[in-house]
Amino acid sequence: MIARCRLAGSINSMGGECSVFSTLMTLKPSQIRSQFPFLDSREGGRPIVYLDNAATTQKPQAVLDALHNFYVHDNANVHRGMHGRAERATIAYENARKAVQKFLNAAYPEEIVFTKNCTEAINLVAACWGRKFLKKGDIIVLSMLEHHSNTIPWFQLREEQGITIKWIDIDDEGNLKLEMLDDFLKKKKVKLVAITGQSNVLGTRPPLKKIIKKSHDAGALVLVDAAQLIAHHPIDVRDLDCDFLAFSGHKIYGPTGIGVLYGKSEYLEAMSPWLGGGMMIQEVTLDRFMPADIPQKFEGGTPPIAQTVGLGAAIDWLSQFAWKDIEEHESALIQKAVEVLSTIDGLTILGTTELPTSSGPLSFTLKNIHPHDLTDILGQRDICLRAGHHCAQPLHKRLGITASTRLSVGIYNTMAEIELLPKAIEEIKKIFHHTP
Ligand code: ALA
Repeated sequence: MIARCRLAGSINSMGGECSVFSTLMTLKPSQIRSQFPFLDSREGGRPIVYLDNAATTQKPQAVLDALHNFYVHDNANVHRGMHGRAERATIAYENARKAVQKFLNAAYPEEIVFTKNCTEAINLVAACWGRKFLKKGDIIVLSMLEHHSNTIPWFQLREEQGITIKWIDIDDEGNLKLEMLDDFLKKKKVKLVAITGQSNVLGTRPPLKKIIKKSHDAGALVLVDAAQLIAHHPIDVRDLDCDFLAFSGHKIYGPTGIGVLYGKSEYLEAMSPWLGGGMMIQEVTLDRFMPADIPQKFEGGTPPIAQTVGLGAAIDWLSQFAWKDIEEHESALIQKAVEVLSTIDGLTILGTTELPTSSGPLSFTLKNIHPHDLTDILGQRDICLRAGHHCAQPLHKRLGITASTRLSVGIYNTMAEIELLPKAIEEIKKIFHHTP
């Protein structure tokens, strides 16, 4: 497929011209797989089937090379040193910020704050915006789909500030009951709606634009937790008009230890800094300090430099492919998963019973076999899924269960991998003498 590059004409995260993306690559999973050394693993004498991408993704050679090359050639601290390597490190670090800005279509690079992960990015908003601007009686709206990263920071804020938390419930299909949001917004006390872009359990994608418009009309800001959406669907923060958006690098084929907070500059500028230390100051005297401008104001101490460069490389790498192709491929995998899992007696898919149109995670339970046992035995056969509450305990309670098994796909997964599941699960049923 030939199309114009999202980053064409820009500088890539390693400081070079982004000419490699003047055309988009055809998405061929077999070719893509060969770029991921992890997927070559044959520890058990058979290929690994990695279907735990919602927990973390594997890294392409381009990202591993970027990390290696940074440490071998450019390793120095950023925004401090005067020597050539320090300048190169700073350029690479800031070019990664520009890559993220373009990826999200943010208005300015200064609206991109680097954090440790998505969780830290959400905590930053709770600490620096919530503590300053919220008071007792103010309302934050969350949804039943949230994972703990977008729950606990607001609980902590509730303990400190006496705010109130309201929950948007889901229907049997896992969709949000948006009329509940309308009711909350009528109270005129809602200051923030903090909402996932894609459930990490059910795969549900709330209608973000609609939610953001309604919330803004009622005077509330919106934070989007894009931890799960970021690698599977294009995000344009200006089109969405969200006020904050958070994600982790490791879920978009980048390294661990790097996350992003996008914030509209007017809000970031109004917020107080959080972690005190080097890089986040303009001036320090014996009795006071003047914070740096955004984004450095929120990047106290030596940042995760190599990880940031690695994230830029991951974004450059992913930008080779057209979103349309990624979405078509991953949706087809999930549709196939629904189809093959539906043939298994005693297996219940959580949430929608329709064929999903998105490529979100798919979770299920199996009658009389605990998700931990099922997932553990699949793991022993090098089929990697996740079991448990997936850091979304309130959602599991709402569904009337304590745990589920989850499969989640990435760009490198194949139909053949999905087709392995029914046989493997039927064999495990036999081990448990399961008769549904
Ligand atoms: N929140 C991550 C997951 O869903 C860790 O697995």
